[in-house]
Amino acid sequence: MTTTSPETGGHPGAPSPPGLAGGPGDMTAPGVRVRDLVVVYRTPLGELPALGGVSLTIEPGTITGIVGESGSGKSTLALSLLNAVQPPGRISAGSVEIDGLGNVLELGGDDLRQARGRHLGYVFQAAQNSLNPLKTVGKQLLDLGRSHGADDPRALVRDARSLLERMGLDGARVLDSHQHQLSGGMRQRVGIMLALVLNAQLVILDEPTTALDMITQATILRIVREVHKERGLTTLMVTHDIGVAAEVTDRLAVMYGGRVVEHGPTMDVIGAPSHPYTQGLIRAIPRLSGDTAEARALPGRPPTLGTLPAGGCVFRERCPLRMDVCETVEPPPVLVDRRTVACHAVAGARQERVVREERVVREQERVGREEERA
Ligand SMILES: Nc1ncnc2c1ncn2[C@@H]1O[C@H](COP(=O)(O)OP(=O)(O)OP(=O)(O)O)[C@@H](O)[C@H]1O
Ligand code: SF4
Ligand SMILES: [Mg+2]
Repeated sequence: MTTTSPETGGHPGAPSPPGLAGGPGDMTAPGVRVRDLVVVYRTPLGELPALGGVSLTIEPGTITGIVGESGSGKSTLALSLLNAVQPPGRISAGSVEIDGLGNVLELGGDDLRQARGRHLGYVFQAAQNSLNPLKTVGKQLLDLGRSHGADDPRALVRDARSLLERMGLDGARVLDSHQHQLSGGMRQRVGIMLALVLNAQLVILDEPTTALDMITQATILRIVREVHKERGLTTLMVTHDIGVAAEVTDRLAVMYGGRVVEHGPTMDVIGAPSHPYTQGLIRAIPRLSGDTAEARALPGRPPTLGTLPAGGCVFRERCPLRMDVCETVEPPPVLVDRRTVACHAVAGARQERVVREERVVREQERVGREEERA
């Protein structure tokens, strides 16, 4: 994770922090629509897809979690929302529409830098290693404010201190410190502060709490939720930890092999997972109470770019429900109840249910007609 914009060296935040040019009241949470997104990385085996046609709608005002095993494409998707995939990667197809911005994949140069500044706050994975070692945090904060047109540095510092203090740090001391004077967990909180301090409306946090102990993690998650609500944000949180997702998110997208395989309200997805991969993920969570032996690791390993099958379902090697069609046809996402699921077995079961329900309705209508005639 890094808090530095990959293109400009500045941090992607908004130019109108509270108390400066406009505050939270001016903001509207943006929706995001990702369509058929393909991202490839150049490898010795040629260009291979890390995202294989991802479509995902992020509802305005929600906290959406992205979960999945290592290598499933979570960070690549998060970077794509900023059009910030770096070589050897490139976005080769698709669109990312953000309300108020349009298709960010069509933006470049200064437009893109401005768009990032005005709309998007971002904490990259491993942010604890990304601060400039030669400048204090406070100096970096002021540089950040200047590069995004913030004209009241005092208000900026006040907001930064307040955010740091809410996350359990001595705000004034942290702003006076250099990177080497802060622990990994403190730097991670500085990264979160920098993503929030400029009051961007869309905030993307990639594994924001990995270096933190349980108590600090809980505090940070509470603050993320509070700030999200207070400022009316749309928040995307990447995490490999379903417990974190359950605690913080409203909606959950599950990724596997560069696809979103299930997406819906968090409580639905975790409480009654539909996709065989989501079911395996949930079963693999160790329980703190009850039968601890119940937690069962998913068999097999997640695919790498080199082992990802070119056709059919990417999960089939590990799937207990695998059928012939799964070998050759990639399952499209279908709407099942309040969520989308990409699985032939789930789609087939839904289709059977629809047919059964239609049969019941027809039968009821027939009985009704006969009763009317009698
Ligand atoms: N710079 C790169 N060069 C080549 N392949 C890459 C590069 N960055 C990512 N990949 C590959 O793209 C795929 C998706 O990676 P990504 O980092 O998006 O996954 P992730 O879900 O964020 O994983 P993690 O949980 O480990 O952070 C992986 O197979 C990864 O090896
Ligand atoms: S499409 Fe087939 S292989 Fe893939 S998850 Fe569904 S049943 Fe399993
Ligand atoms: Mg990642």
